[in-house]
This record gives sequence, C-alpha cells and structure tokens, in this order.
Amino acid sequence: MLASELDNGHISQGGNGDRIDHLVAAHKPGYGLTRPFYFDPEIFERDMQRVFFRHWHCLAHESVIPNVNDFELFKLGPEQVILTRAGDGTVHAMLNVCRHRGAEVCTKDRGNAKAFVCPYHAWTFANDGRLKAARLMPKDFKREDHGLKKLHVRVVEGLVFISFAEEPLDFSEVENLLRATCGQYGWGAAKVAYRQSYPLNANWKLAVENYVECYHCGPAHPEYSETHALEQPLHMIEELNAAMEARTCALGIEVGSGNHWQNSKEGREAIHAFRYALYDGVKTGSRDGQPLSTLMGRFSDFDGGVTSIHLGGTTFLVCYADHGMIYRFIPKTVDTCEMELIWLVDEKAEEGRDYDLEKLTWLWKVTTDEDKAIIEHAARGVVSRFFVPGPIAPMEQNELRYINWYLDEISRP
Ligand code: FES
Ligand code: FE
Repeated sequence: MLASELDNGHISQGGNGDRIDHLVAAHKPGYGLTRPFYFDPEIFERDMQRVFFRHWHCLAHESVIPNVNDFELFKLGPEQVILTRAGDGTVHAMLNVCRHRGAEVCTKDRGNAKAFVCPYHAWTFANDGRLKAARLMPKDFKREDHGLKKLHVRVVEGLVFISFAEEPLDFSEVENLLRATCGQYGWGAAKVAYRQSYPLNANWKLAVENYVECYHCGPAHPEYSETHALEQPLHMIEELNAAMEARTCALGIEVGSGNHWQNSKEGREAIHAFRYALYDGVKTGSRDGQPLSTLMGRFSDFDGGVTSIHLGGTTFLVCYADHGMIYRFIPKTVDTCEMELIWLVDEKAEEGRDYDLEKLTWLWKVTTDEDKAIIEHAARGVVSRFFVPGPIAPMEQNELRYINWYLDEISRP
C-alpha cells in the first residue's frame, strides 16, 4: 500500500495486523498520527492489547478507601475493577466478574464489606478475592482455584497503581522517581478533596496528546496562561526555571525529577518527570496565583514551581506546593474516552478552614472545560478523509515523544 493512500485513510476494511504495521511504518517522523489511528476499530483493539492492558495505570489515591473493608468500584472501558482494603489493611484490586458464570459480584459503587456475595447463585468472595463459599458444589470442587481474578497492585506515595498484565512491566524505577517527586510533596499523607469525570467524544489518544503539549495553552487557556510559564517556549523561561530551582533548594528540598525520561523498553514502565516555573510572584496553580490550601510534605514555603509526571500511557500527575492533581485517561470505545481529575490536599487540611473547594478546583475545571472543547474539535476534524497531519511544533516536544512511544508500543508483539 502506498504511503499516500495510508495518509488519506483509504484502507481496506477487515484488515489484519500487517495493515496496522504498514500504517506504523508509513508514519512520517516529526508529524502527527494519520486519521485511522483515531477511528479504526482494529487499531483501538491493538491499543487496548498493547498499551492499556500492558501498562500500569493510577486507579486512585488510597485515601478513597481509608478503613479496613472499604471498597470502591472503578469502570475502565469494558472492565470493572473492585479496589478494596482487606482486614489486614492491604490494598487489593480484582475484576468484578464472578468465577462461576460471570455476573458482577460487587453491585455498589462504594461501601464497606468483608465479602461480596454474587447476586446470581450466591458464591461468596472475601474482599481479598478468595472464594469463601460456593453453595451445593461437589466435594471435589476446589474453592482455592476460583477466586476473583486479581490484578497487580502497587501503592506508592499514596497512589494506587494497577496492571492487568500477567507479567507486569518493571515498576521499580517508577517507584524511585515517585518517591523523589510526589514524596517531597507529601502525597503519601494526602487526601482527595474532589474528583470530577469528563466524558469526551474523542479517541483516547487525542485527549492524551492534548494533555502532553502546551503549544495550545496560549490560545486555548487564557486563565492557565496568566500563571503558568509553560505556555512560553522553554528557552524563554530558563531564567524563571532557574529562579524556581533556587527557591526550592533554599527550602532544603530537592525534587528529583531532573527532566528524567525512561521509555518502556526492556520490560520497564515509562515515566517522564520535569519541573517548570510559575510566573514571578505566583505561588500555586490558582485563579490569582495565591495559596489554595496548607503546604504539603516537606514544603515550608511556596517555591513558585510545578512538578509534572507522565507515567505509562494514561497517568499524569501535577504537584504544586499546596495541592496535587491526578489526571486519569480511560479509553472507552474507538471514539469515546473519559478523563478523571482528582484534586489532592494535605490529609489534615479541612474544607472551609484551610481550603475553599470552589477556589481549589476553579483553574483546572476551567482549563479542562476548554480542553474538552478543543479535543472534540480535533476529533471531528481528524476523521475528514482529507485530513493530512502537519508537522509537530518545537513547543510540542512531549507530543512528539508520546507519539514515538505509542508507535513503539503498538509495534512490539
Ligand atoms: Fe456468580 Fe453464579 S454467576 S454465583
Ligand atoms: Fe490543555
């Protein structure tokens, strides 16, 4: 197939893996993805197999299940995951699929339960996934072979990560980097102040690609751009960044991001951490640049900086000195996805006394409403049979990195 045919999306229906490999091979370096990547069901299926079900995802902050026997149900595209804290305090994640005939065993969004009783034939599962009872089964039935399907779980700095993979990607470097970044901001002693989910009529990659670049921040986010220097080309904010690092250092804190990038070759999870400055006099990511909540972790004053972390293909974290943000991207269908925003504050901060919820959430609500609009503009545009992607701008270097990473991932068996 000719590259020009692929660019225009004139691809045969009902193709196979080779067809996708041809599309990857025809990708023009330094350019965006061609239109089939945003609406082709077979590519979506490949995304799910090779990205979604292979990589780690942040599911939640563990403060959503603070007590033993607490649970919460998460919907991730077609899958449902029950997150629990068992009687011994350990955190577990398992599929909400009965091992008898597949019914959902957890029928509430959240609660406190030692066990889940399947509503169909009453098989009863402990909240760590073990099958405890199965009515009227033969004597040789082995309960130990019929526990709920468990997912791999890591809890780092309060963040709960899950992997659907049988053999999960090595997470050790990620853990070190999260301790050197989120650890300095005290995320292990944080709590969720607010969560909001945004359904998007767009392929999940359009949402993630939008998140990772700030070329659009100037035109699309006037509020964000008043306080965050990232909307300028990096060479123009070197001085601001150096002043920020000096302030962080003067607080006796070293945030170990070092603009570190680890790809996911050799069986490791991918992570990219970097820091950038807020404008002079701006303390945090708020409407007026003024503090939103009590300082977190090792911070005894504001350093006017932001630490940003991109993890795997769907998890993004932003650390300010007085609050944190988790962005979760969840593919749903080839042309819909969901983005969840989670606002973290220090666990001792009290709403009304230490923070005002409306002020805390204002900036990222406004910014995300704007993002939803531009992502959906793009989703409607890229399906045009005449769409040919243009070159990635220098300010979109993280977009370029993400596209290259994505193409590597879906090319690997
Ligand atoms: Fe759950 Fe039968 S499907 S007990
Ligand atoms: Fe944006």
